[in-house]
Amino acid sequence: MSDELSLREALFSTRAMRRLKPDPVSRADLEFIVEAATMAASGGNRQEWAFVVVTDPAQRAQLGAIYGDAGNEIIRDGVLANPDVDDATRRVYQNAMHLVEHMGGAPAIIVPVMTRPAPSSAAQAASYWGSIFPAVQNLLLAARSRGLGATLTTIHKFREAQVREALGLPETAETIAMIPVGHPLGKWGRPRRAPASESMHWDRWGG
Ligand SMILES: Cc1cc2nc3c(=O)[nH]c(=O)nc-3n(C[C@H](O)[C@H](O)[C@H](O)COP(=O)(O)O)c2cc1C
Repeated sequence: MSDELSLREALFSTRAMRRLKPDPVSRADLEFIVEAATMAASGGNRQEWAFVVVTDPAQRAQLGAIYGDAGNEIIRDGVLANPDVDDATRRVYQNAMHLVEHMGGAPAIIVPVMTRPAPSSAAQAASYWGSIFPAVQNLLLAARSRGLGATLTTIHKFREAQVREALGLPETAETIAMIPVGHPLGKWGRPRRAPASESMHWDRWGG
């Protein structure tokens, strides 16, 4: 697979790719994806990150079961059981149910981790979370550049203790996301977004 995809094409066609083939992802691709993640900025260039790449079938099945359990509680029995949820939101969460049922079937699951606990103050939290999500976005785009699909997911956080135990993380580590990676079954295309002009302000709010 080439990694020559233009940056513009990657930016304008990378969507949550939840439907994945079971075929394995090469170790070289996984190493490239993580290396690309580590090119991201972090506060003070502290690089307090780690990336647990899970390909072992038993480990994937365990993460899939934990994720499925969280997803059934939060999405199936929470969001989707609420009759007041609007149609657009319902569609997103119906799509999300695919991973609730199939996370463990992804050939690789990457769990980015911060190596110290999350702070509670908003000012410190800005730098903490802001020091990992650029790496996560790099990771998603790097996967895209290799023709691999991925999805940023976070509902595993409702089962943080179980994920930590499954991965043998140290006490100080905080999981950030659970990212299934694999060859896509779905199609790439421009993400469904409101026009940028609706969120853009010139010189001052409302300008
Ligand atoms: C912070 C964050 C958390 C997310 N958590 C989940 C999740 O737990 N499960 C899931 O299936 N998708 C999750 N997503 C994916 C979003 O639902 C998805 O990106 C959004 O609906 C837009 O879809 P698109 O990128 O395909 O256009 C998450 C995205 C972000 C940015």
